[in-house]
Amino acid sequence: MMLRSIVLIFMCLFLVGCVQQKQEFSTEEYLQKSKPIAMEFSNALKAELQKAISTGDFASAIEVCKKVSHEKEIEFTNTHPDVESLRRISLKTRNAETHTPKPNEKEWLIEMENLMKRGEDPKPGLLVIDEHPAVLFPIVLDNPVCLVCHGAEEFMVPELKQALQKHYPNDQAIGYQQGDLRGALVIYWK
Ligand code: HEC
Repeated sequence: MMLRSIVLIFMCLFLVGCVQQKQEFSTEEYLQKSKPIAMEFSNALKAELQKAISTGDFASAIEVCKKVSHEKEIEFTNTHPDVESLRRISLKTRNAETHTPKPNEKEWLIEMENLMKRGEDPKPGLLVIDEHPAVLFPIVLDNPVCLVCHGAEEFMVPELKQALQKHYPNDQAIGYQQGDLRGALVIYWK
């Protein structure tokens, strides 16, 4: 009798442990609160990019890209207290150090690519990373300006090509075409 009670108590503890480990997040809730942040972030980045490109000085446009995107990530994290961090990821990175996807992010990006190959639109998604929700927004190259720096190498302005090679000797983020999936913007919630 005693033994049976002990076994029962252990089974209960084990089950409670399992339930606690399996955290559920409402996809709809996180998508809703992530959407305006993602829109605002990508608009802010695009505006900075347009401004930098319009000067015609490509080498400094790259510096701006590098510095401003990082500064904007920090700014957006600071202005949204529930957001742990924010970053862009890609299967073909220019900056591998900060934009390499985590294993489940990589799987998600491949899934989105496959969806697009079947003619469907990629959609935002929710993953659980280190027990925290992360919302992913696909980044599709739908703006011709992106191809100036991510398009075919043979059409690239020589001074731009040189500057890219200097800053990113292991650059993989070239050879894209309009409509390709470039990566994703990820919002990591606390
Ligand atoms: C002036 C050149 C330039 C243009 C134009 C440009 N990018 Fe980039 N892009 C860069 C640079 C430089 C980086 C690496 C930034 C860093 O070091 O964090 C980058 C990185 C990225 C990344 C992060 C993943 C990675 O490869 O490291 C994404 C996503 C991206 N760009 C998307 C876009 C999109 C979408 C557009 C068009 C709206 C665009 N880029 C236009 C230069 C450019």
